[in-house]
Amino acid sequence: MWDPTQYEKFKNERSQPFFDLLGLVRSKNPARVVDLGCGTGALTKILHEKTGASSTLGIDSSAAMLEKAPRDVPGLSFEKKSIEPFLTADDGTHDLIFSNAALHWIEDHDALFEKLAGRLTAGGELAIQMPANFDHVSHLVADEVARQPRFSSALGGFVRKPPVLAPERYAELLDRAGFRDQSVRLQIYAHTLASRDDLVEWVKGTLLTTYAEKLSADAYAQFIAEYTHILFERTDDRRPYFYPFKRILMRASKPSART
Ligand SMILES: C[S@@+](CC[C@H](N)C(=O)[O-])C[C@H]1O[C@@H](n2cnc3c(N)ncnc32)[C@H](O)[C@@H]1O
Repeated sequence: MWDPTQYEKFKNERSQPFFDLLGLVRSKNPARVVDLGCGTGALTKILHEKTGASSTLGIDSSAAMLEKAPRDVPGLSFEKKSIEPFLTADDGTHDLIFSNAALHWIEDHDALFEKLAGRLTAGGELAIQMPANFDHVSHLVADEVARQPRFSSALGGFVRKPPVLAPERYAELLDRAGFRDQSVRLQIYAHTLASRDDLVEWVKGTLLTTYAEKLSADAYAQFIAEYTHILFERTDDRRPYFYPFKRILMRASKPSART
């Protein structure tokens, strides 16, 4: 249910963390790069060009997001597939594994970093950014609506609980998986939205996609109406609307064969 038009309503706000993550990447002219959950591929193209990679593959499970992915850039390609099978696939290793705003859709982060290490070449690099804003009212209200009996039965009791851990836990997991030279940070992005209506538009582009997928069109419309109603009870109608958004950014290196 990913909709590139909805997602890109906040293109500038959503791309800043990508550029911050790219700024952490040390790889120069890597041979083989993969971008996990690459979305429309527009940022994957920038990743490919800025790193000077020989080959960059963007993978994403959404055909709608991949529809407009750039097709005419030498060395850049895209595949519609899920991240989960990539983690245990046996089709060679990568010099850089990059992922911007996608791995919070993958379960079991305790086991994730060992798997990512297994997909990296010795001396390879990992760079990941994930949202960590799930305690903000914009997310808590979605949980609350999903628990209401009229939606809960249609959702089979499902409530989206992202598997994102505390930043220091990622530091431990990187270390445990053998990574070196790690940098893990929590950054708060200060977004100025026109009004709280934009808050609804924001979550419709990401968090709420999971409810759109599981509910009928009618039920989803009711979900949005209830979500908006409760959110507006809990927030002030300030214009512009200040939206602080926490994200975790990390990079680390897999030791080279010599070390
Ligand atoms: C928030 S968007 C980020 C897109 C892109 N990385 C960017 O920075 O613009 C998250 C993307 O992850 C993809 N995604 C979510 N779960 C996935 C999975 N299990 N396997 C592959 N892609 C997934 C979605 O289809 C979506 O395009």
